[in-house]
Amino acid sequence: MNIVVAGGTGFLGREITRALLEAGHQVTVASRSNPQKEPIDARARWVRGDVMEPDSLAQALAGSDVVVDAVQFPNSPIENPRKGLTFERIDLGGTRNLVDAARAAGVGHFIGLSGVGAAEDAEYPWLRYKWEEEQHIIASGLTYTIFRPSWIYGERDVALNRFLGFAKFLPFIPVIGNGKTRINPLFVRDLGVHVAAAVGNEAARNRMFELGGPAVMTMDEIIRVTLKVAGKRRFLLHAPKPLMKLVAGVIQFAPGRPLTPGAVDFITMDGVADTSSLTETFGLALTPLEQGVSTYLHNS
Ligand SMILES: NC(=O)c1ccc[n+]([C@@H]2O[C@H](COP(=O)([O-])OP(=O)(O)OC[C@H]3O[C@@H](n4cnc5c(N)ncnc54)[C@H](OP(=O)(O)O)[C@@H]3O)[C@@H](O)[C@H]2O)c1
Repeated sequence: MNIVVAGGTGFLGREITRALLEAGHQVTVASRSNPQKEPIDARARWVRGDVMEPDSLAQALAGSDVVVDAVQFPNSPIENPRKGLTFERIDLGGTRNLVDAARAAGVGHFIGLSGVGAAEDAEYPWLRYKWEEEQHIIASGLTYTIFRPSWIYGERDVALNRFLGFAKFLPFIPVIGNGKTRINPLFVRDLGVHVAAAVGNEAARNRMFELGGPAVMTMDEIIRVTLKVAGKRRFLLHAPKPLMKLVAGVIQFAPGRPLTPGAVDFITMDGVADTSSLTETFGLALTPLEQGVSTYLHNS
Protein backbone atom coordinates (compact mmCIF):
# COMPACT_ATOMS: atom_id res chain seq x y z
CA MET A 1 0.00 0.00 0.00
CA ASN A 2 1.01 3.65 -0.41
CA ILE A 3 1.45 5.07 3.05
CA VAL A 4 2.29 8.61 4.09
CA VAL A 5 3.98 9.02 7.46
CA ALA A 6 3.50 12.64 8.48
CA GLY A 7 6.31 13.49 10.89
CA GLY A 8 8.26 10.55 9.50
CA THR A 9 11.58 12.29 10.22
CA GLY A 10 10.90 12.22 13.97
CA PHE A 11 11.69 9.75 16.72
CA LEU A 12 8.58 7.64 16.25
CA GLY A 13 8.06 8.47 12.59
CA ARG A 14 11.39 6.94 11.57
CA GLU A 15 10.64 3.68 13.36
CA ILE A 16 7.13 3.55 11.90
CA THR A 17 8.60 4.16 8.45
CA ARG A 18 11.07 1.33 8.90
CA ALA A 19 8.41 -1.12 10.11
CA LEU A 20 6.10 -0.24 7.21
CA LEU A 21 8.91 -0.65 4.67
CA GLU A 22 9.82 -3.99 6.18
CA ALA A 23 6.20 -5.06 5.85
CA GLY A 24 6.49 -4.38 2.10
CA HIS A 25 4.67 -1.03 1.81
CA GLN A 26 5.65 2.02 -0.20
CA VAL A 27 6.30 4.83 2.22
CA THR A 28 6.33 8.58 1.74
CA VAL A 29 7.71 10.61 4.61
CA ALA A 30 6.10 14.05 4.96
CA SER A 31 7.57 16.81 7.08
CA ARG A 32 8.60 20.45 6.79
CA SER A 33 12.21 19.72 5.92
CA ASN A 34 14.21 16.83 4.50
CA PRO A 35 16.97 16.23 7.05
CA GLN A 36 20.29 16.10 5.22
CA LYS A 37 22.43 15.30 8.26
CA GLU A 38 20.35 12.30 9.22
CA PRO A 39 18.75 11.18 5.97
CA ILE A 40 15.52 9.24 6.00
CA ASP A 41 15.51 5.56 5.04
CA ALA A 42 16.73 5.30 1.44
CA ARG A 43 13.77 3.06 0.56
CA ALA A 44 11.29 5.85 1.41
CA ARG A 45 10.37 8.96 -0.58
CA TRP A 46 10.28 12.39 1.05
CA VAL A 47 7.72 15.09 0.38
CA ARG A 48 7.17 18.49 1.94
CA GLY A 49 4.02 18.53 4.04
CA ASP A 50 3.39 21.11 6.74
CA VAL A 51 0.34 20.40 8.86
CA MET A 52 -0.17 24.14 9.19
CA GLU A 53 -0.34 24.53 5.39
CA PRO A 54 -3.32 22.58 4.05
CA ASP A 55 -2.24 23.10 0.41
CA SER A 56 1.02 21.28 1.04
CA LEU A 57 -0.95 18.40 2.63
CA ALA A 58 -3.22 18.02 -0.38
CA GLN A 59 -0.15 17.43 -2.53
CA ALA A 60 1.60 15.21 0.00
CA LEU A 61 -1.40 12.91 0.46
CA ALA A 62 -2.49 12.59 -3.17
CA GLY A 63 -2.76 8.91 -4.13
CA SER A 64 -2.12 7.52 -0.65
CA ASP A 65 -4.06 4.64 0.89
CA VAL A 66 -3.06 5.16 4.51
CA VAL A 67 -1.86 8.15 6.54
CA VAL A 68 0.00 7.91 9.84
CA ASP A 69 0.12 11.05 12.00
CA ALA A 70 3.43 11.23 13.91
CA VAL A 71 3.69 15.02 14.00
CA GLN A 72 4.65 16.95 17.08
CA PHE A 73 5.93 20.49 17.53
CA PRO A 74 9.73 20.83 17.88
CA ASN A 75 11.15 20.70 21.40
CA SER A 76 7.95 19.26 22.89
CA PRO A 77 6.91 19.40 25.73
CA ILE A 78 8.47 22.87 26.02
CA GLU A 79 5.90 25.11 24.38
CA ASN A 80 6.85 28.39 22.76
CA PRO A 81 3.65 30.37 22.15
CA ARG A 82 5.53 33.32 20.62
CA LYS A 83 6.70 31.02 17.82
CA GLY A 84 3.32 29.29 17.62
CA LEU A 85 4.80 26.02 18.90
CA THR A 86 2.09 24.75 21.21
CA PHE A 87 0.13 21.56 21.77
CA GLU A 88 -3.05 23.35 20.82
CA ARG A 89 -1.80 24.86 17.56
CA ILE A 90 0.47 22.14 16.12
CA ASP A 91 -0.60 18.87 17.71
CA LEU A 92 -4.36 19.49 17.80
CA GLY A 93 -4.66 22.00 14.93
CA GLY A 94 -2.21 20.02 12.81
CA THR A 95 -4.08 16.75 13.35
CA ARG A 96 -7.34 18.43 12.38
CA ASN A 97 -5.76 19.71 9.16
CA LEU A 98 -4.21 16.33 8.40
CA VAL A 99 -7.48 14.48 8.97
CA ASP A 100 -9.38 16.94 6.79
CA ALA A 101 -6.74 16.64 4.04
CA ALA A 102 -6.87 12.82 4.29
CA ARG A 103 -10.64 12.85 3.88
CA ALA A 104 -10.42 15.21 0.90
CA ALA A 105 -7.74 13.00 -0.69
CA GLY A 106 -9.90 9.87 -0.29
CA VAL A 107 -7.44 8.14 2.02
CA GLY A 108 -8.71 4.77 3.22
CA HIS A 109 -7.22 4.55 6.72
CA PHE A 110 -5.98 7.15 9.21
CA ILE A 111 -3.64 6.01 11.98
CA GLY A 112 -3.30 8.48 14.84
CA LEU A 113 -0.88 8.65 17.75
CA SER A 114 -2.55 9.95 20.88
CA GLY A 115 -1.22 9.38 24.38
CA VAL A 116 -2.13 7.33 27.42
CA GLY A 117 -4.33 9.37 29.76
CA ALA A 118 -6.04 11.37 26.97
CA ALA A 119 -9.45 12.40 28.31
CA GLU A 120 -11.95 15.23 28.05
CA ASP A 121 -11.47 16.04 31.72
CA ALA A 122 -7.76 15.16 32.02
CA GLU A 123 -5.72 17.18 34.50
CA TYR A 124 -3.30 18.50 31.88
CA PRO A 125 -4.15 20.47 28.74
CA TRP A 126 -2.01 18.34 26.40
CA LEU A 127 -4.06 15.28 27.35
CA ARG A 128 -7.28 17.19 26.73
CA TYR A 129 -5.96 18.24 23.30
CA LYS A 130 -5.06 14.61 22.56
CA TRP A 131 -8.65 13.67 23.41
CA GLU A 132 -9.90 16.39 21.04
CA GLU A 133 -7.59 15.02 18.32
CA GLU A 134 -9.10 11.57 18.85
CA GLN A 135 -12.62 12.98 18.62
CA HIS A 136 -11.81 14.72 15.36
CA ILE A 137 -10.39 11.53 13.88
CA ILE A 138 -13.39 9.46 15.02
CA ALA A 139 -15.93 12.03 13.74
CA SER A 140 -14.20 12.32 10.34
CA GLY A 141 -15.84 9.24 8.87
CA LEU A 142 -12.42 7.89 7.88
CA THR A 143 -11.51 4.35 8.85
CA TYR A 144 -9.17 4.90 11.78
CA THR A 145 -6.89 3.23 14.26
CA ILE A 146 -5.71 5.28 17.22
CA PHE A 147 -2.84 4.25 19.46
CA ARG A 148 -2.43 5.74 22.90
CA PRO A 149 1.22 5.05 23.70
CA SER A 150 2.83 5.40 27.10
CA TRP A 151 6.38 6.77 27.46
CA ILE A 152 8.57 5.60 24.60
CA TYR A 153 12.32 4.95 24.61
CA GLY A 154 14.78 4.02 21.89
CA GLU A 155 18.07 4.90 20.31
CA ARG A 156 16.88 8.37 19.29
CA ASP A 157 14.75 9.34 22.28
CA VAL A 158 15.39 12.60 24.10
CA ALA A 159 14.39 11.35 27.56
CA LEU A 160 16.19 8.16 28.57
CA ASN A 161 19.22 9.19 26.51
CA ARG A 162 19.44 12.39 28.55
CA PHE A 163 20.03 10.30 31.69
CA LEU A 164 22.69 8.27 29.88
CA GLY A 165 24.24 11.56 28.77
CA PHE A 166 24.45 12.76 32.39
CA ALA A 167 26.15 9.48 33.33
CA LYS A 168 28.99 10.32 30.94
CA PHE A 169 30.20 13.30 32.94
CA LEU A 170 28.42 13.38 36.31
CA PRO A 171 28.84 11.11 39.34
CA PHE A 172 25.05 11.34 39.88
CA ILE A 173 21.92 11.46 37.73
CA PRO A 174 19.63 14.47 38.27
CA VAL A 175 15.97 13.43 38.25
CA ILE A 176 13.10 15.91 38.23
CA GLY A 177 10.52 14.86 40.84
CA ASN A 178 10.63 12.07 43.38
CA GLY A 179 11.41 9.28 40.88
CA LYS A 180 8.14 7.51 41.71
CA THR A 181 6.35 8.39 38.46
CA ARG A 182 4.73 5.15 37.24
CA ILE A 183 5.12 4.15 33.60
CA ASN A 184 5.21 1.02 31.46
CA PRO A 185 7.99 2.10 29.09
CA LEU A 186 7.48 1.12 25.47
CA PHE A 187 10.31 0.18 23.12
CA VAL A 188 9.97 2.30 19.98
CA ARG A 189 10.33 -0.74 17.73
CA ASP A 190 7.21 -2.25 19.32
CA LEU A 191 5.32 0.89 18.36
CA GLY A 192 6.48 0.63 14.75
CA VAL A 193 5.56 -3.03 14.53
CA HIS A 194 2.06 -2.42 15.92
CA VAL A 195 1.41 0.46 13.53
CA ALA A 196 2.47 -1.77 10.63
CA ALA A 197 0.25 -4.57 11.94
CA ALA A 198 -2.75 -2.23 11.97
CA VAL A 199 -2.51 -1.62 8.22
CA GLY A 200 -5.09 -3.64 6.32
CA ASN A 201 -6.14 -5.34 9.55
CA GLU A 202 -9.93 -5.69 9.96
CA ALA A 203 -9.54 -6.20 13.71
CA ALA A 204 -7.86 -2.78 14.02
CA ARG A 205 -10.59 -0.92 12.08
CA ASN A 206 -12.13 1.97 14.01
CA ARG A 207 -10.48 0.96 17.25
CA MET A 208 -8.33 2.65 19.85
CA PHE A 209 -5.55 0.81 21.67
CA GLU A 210 -3.44 1.70 24.66
CA LEU A 211 0.13 0.68 23.96
CA GLY A 212 2.87 0.28 26.55
CA GLY A 213 5.67 -2.01 27.62
CA PRO A 214 5.23 -5.30 29.52
CA ALA A 215 6.10 -3.98 33.01
CA VAL A 216 4.98 -1.02 35.10
CA MET A 217 8.04 0.62 36.65
CA THR A 218 8.93 3.78 38.52
CA MET A 219 11.16 6.35 36.83
CA ASP A 220 13.94 5.46 39.30
CA GLU A 221 13.67 1.77 38.34
CA ILE A 222 13.76 2.68 34.65
CA ILE A 223 16.93 4.74 35.11
CA ARG A 224 18.61 2.06 37.27
CA VAL A 225 17.88 -0.72 34.77
CA THR A 226 19.23 1.45 31.95
CA LEU A 227 22.40 2.33 33.87
CA LYS A 228 22.91 -1.36 34.61
CA VAL A 229 22.66 -2.24 30.91
CA ALA A 230 25.13 0.58 30.17
CA GLY A 231 27.50 -0.85 32.81
CA LYS A 232 27.37 2.29 35.01
CA ARG A 233 26.64 2.90 38.68
CA ARG A 234 25.40 6.35 39.66
CA PHE A 235 23.24 7.61 42.49
CA LEU A 236 20.02 9.39 41.64
CA LEU A 237 19.64 12.96 42.86
CA HIS A 238 16.01 14.05 43.03
CA ALA A 239 14.99 17.66 42.51
CA PRO A 240 11.55 18.16 44.13
CA LYS A 241 8.81 18.99 41.64
CA PRO A 242 7.57 22.19 43.40
CA LEU A 243 11.14 23.53 43.43
CA MET A 244 11.65 22.65 39.76
CA LYS A 245 8.38 24.38 38.85
CA LEU A 246 9.65 27.54 40.55
CA VAL A 247 12.99 27.27 38.74
CA ALA A 248 11.23 26.59 35.44
CA GLY A 249 8.99 29.63 36.04
CA VAL A 250 12.15 31.76 35.87
CA ILE A 251 14.32 29.99 33.30
CA GLN A 252 11.46 29.73 30.81
CA PHE A 253 12.42 33.30 29.86
CA ALA A 254 16.09 32.41 29.29
CA PRO A 255 17.38 32.05 25.71
CA GLY A 256 16.55 28.67 24.27
CA ARG A 257 13.74 28.25 26.80
CA PRO A 258 15.33 25.28 28.62
CA LEU A 259 12.32 24.38 30.79
CA THR A 260 8.76 25.51 31.53
CA PRO A 261 6.48 24.72 34.49
CA GLY A 262 4.22 22.78 32.07
CA ALA A 263 7.15 20.67 30.93
CA VAL A 264 7.88 19.77 34.58
CA ASP A 265 4.31 18.48 34.90
CA PHE A 266 4.67 16.61 31.61
CA ILE A 267 7.93 14.94 32.66
CA THR A 268 6.58 13.84 36.05
CA MET A 269 3.11 12.59 35.08
CA ASP A 270 2.20 8.91 35.37
CA GLY A 271 1.64 7.00 32.12
CA VAL A 272 0.44 3.44 32.47
CA ALA A 273 -1.13 1.82 29.40
CA ASP A 274 -3.56 -1.08 29.75
CA THR A 275 -2.34 -3.37 26.97
CA SER A 276 -5.00 -6.08 27.30
CA SER A 277 -7.00 -5.25 24.16
CA LEU A 278 -3.80 -4.56 22.23
CA THR A 279 -2.38 -7.99 23.03
CA GLU A 280 -5.72 -9.69 22.41
CA THR A 281 -6.00 -8.08 18.98
CA PHE A 282 -2.44 -8.16 17.69
CA GLY A 283 -0.85 -10.93 19.78
CA LEU A 284 2.60 -9.38 19.38
CA ALA A 285 5.32 -9.55 22.03
CA LEU A 286 6.22 -6.42 24.01
CA THR A 287 9.89 -5.96 24.75
CA PRO A 288 11.10 -5.73 28.38
CA LEU A 289 13.11 -2.56 29.11
CA GLU A 290 16.42 -4.31 29.72
CA GLN A 291 16.19 -6.15 26.40
CA GLY A 292 15.08 -3.06 24.46
CA VAL A 293 17.88 -0.87 25.79
CA SER A 294 20.47 -3.64 25.16
CA THR A 295 19.38 -3.77 21.53
CA TYR A 296 20.88 -0.37 20.83
CA LEU A 297 23.44 0.05 23.61
CA HIS A 298 25.08 -3.25 22.71
CA ASN A 299 23.84 -3.58 19.11
CA SER A 300 22.62 -7.07 19.92
N1 LIG B 1 7.87 10.24 22.19
C1 LIG B 1 7.02 9.69 23.04
O1 LIG B 1 7.40 9.13 24.09
C2 LIG B 1 5.54 9.71 22.73
C3 LIG B 1 4.65 9.07 23.61
C4 LIG B 1 3.29 9.09 23.32
C5 LIG B 1 2.82 9.73 22.19
N2 LIG B 1 3.72 10.37 21.36
C6 LIG B 1 3.16 11.05 20.17
O2 LIG B 1 3.81 10.59 18.99
C7 LIG B 1 3.89 11.65 18.03
C8 LIG B 1 5.32 11.80 17.52
O3 LIG B 1 6.20 12.05 18.60
P1 LIG B 1 7.79 12.06 18.41
O4 LIG B 1 8.37 11.90 19.78
O5 LIG B 1 8.17 11.09 17.35
O6 LIG B 1 8.06 13.55 17.88
P2 LIG B 1 9.39 14.18 17.22
O7 LIG B 1 10.55 13.27 17.33
O8 LIG B 1 9.50 15.55 17.79
O9 LIG B 1 9.03 14.28 15.67
C9 LIG B 1 8.07 15.20 15.23
C10 LIG B 1 7.94 15.14 13.73
O10 LIG B 1 6.96 16.12 13.34
C11 LIG B 1 7.48 16.90 12.27
N3 LIG B 1 6.84 18.23 12.32
C12 LIG B 1 6.98 19.21 13.24
N4 LIG B 1 6.20 20.26 12.92
C13 LIG B 1 5.55 19.91 11.77
C14 LIG B 1 4.62 20.57 10.93
N5 LIG B 1 4.18 21.82 11.19
N6 LIG B 1 4.17 19.94 9.83
C15 LIG B 1 4.60 18.68 9.52
N7 LIG B 1 5.48 18.00 10.27
C16 LIG B 1 5.96 18.63 11.37
C17 LIG B 1 8.98 16.94 12.50
O11 LIG B 1 9.72 17.20 11.31
P3 LIG B 1 9.99 18.72 10.81
O12 LIG B 1 10.35 19.51 12.03
O13 LIG B 1 11.11 18.61 9.79
O14 LIG B 1 8.73 19.18 10.16
C18 LIG B 1 9.21 15.49 12.94
O15 LIG B 1 9.26 14.65 11.80
C19 LIG B 1 3.31 12.89 18.73
O16 LIG B 1 1.94 13.00 18.40
C20 LIG B 1 3.44 12.55 20.20
O17 LIG B 1 2.49 13.22 21.00
C21 LIG B 1 5.04 10.37 21.58
